[in-house]
Amino acid sequence: MSANFPPSLIEALQSAEIVTALTGAGVSAESGVPTFREAQTGLWAQYEPEHLATPDAFIEDPVLVWEWYAWRRSLVSEVDPNPGHVALVEFERRFPQFVTLTQNVDGLHRVAGASNVIELHGNIQQVKCFDRGHPILDWDTLDGVPPLCPLCGSYLRPDVVWFGESLSESALEQALAWALQADVYLSIGTSSLVYPAAALTVEAIKRDGIIVVEINPNETPLSPYVDFGLRGPSGEILPALLDAIR
Ligand code: OAD
Repeated sequence: MSANFPPSLIEALQSAEIVTALTGAGVSAESGVPTFREAQTGLWAQYEPEHLATPDAFIEDPVLVWEWYAWRRSLVSEVDPNPGHVALVEFERRFPQFVTLTQNVDGLHRVAGASNVIELHGNIQQVKCFDRGHPILDWDTLDGVPPLCPLCGSYLRPDVVWFGESLSESALEQALAWALQADVYLSIGTSSLVYPAAALTVEAIKRDGIIVVEINPNETPLSPYVDFGLRGPSGEILPALLDAIR
């Protein structure tokens, strides 16, 4: 994609010291991972995340919820990072300071080689116990569906933020600091509908001196307020942007 980006955007990126990227499900769409609000078909349509990804659903039927995540882990294990993920790893190497703040739980940024990632909603490859939040590393060697915590005996669960649960305070504080100190803030592949993640973009928009860029084939509620709206798939736009600033 030989895109023509606004010269002022290229200049801003070429002189940027700190670049912060917030990513959503759209970044993984080109890897074949259905997004949340577009996947009317998709592999996950048979299950409504809003219904299953909740503490109540787990209490009601821990086996179903555990099996659903085991299935989602198997789906993610079959997909690869796409050129958008790879370009973000190059961004990490290109800019003096770069972070990927992600709402995605598929772990694909790390699989692509990103090292400075804040997983705001957790990671489905990681597991903790339901009662006390003990992180359990070798959980896949344990019997039981779901397995029991070796430390307290409660059920193990995916270490992800469920609907109705709050995000890690420390992760949110770090993410906000990155958003407010950015020279350029990229909002990529997110509908900007879910808070507090979307609030990071709102705060960057409100802060003078931060250039806010939205990369999304579609408009979002924040589109009218960003400095640059790049309409298209992140798997094409991010590599083109990387080429344009080399
Ligand atoms: P959504 O499904 O809400 O939005 C995906 C966005 O990606 C949409 O705005 C699409 O237009 C855009 N999109 C689709 N294909 C794209 C592509 N190839 N390149 C770039 N963008 C593309 O997913 P999120 O915004 O990530 O929360 O949803 C945020 C949170 O809502 C999720 O993390 C999840 C859900 O509730 C939790 O699980 C706690």
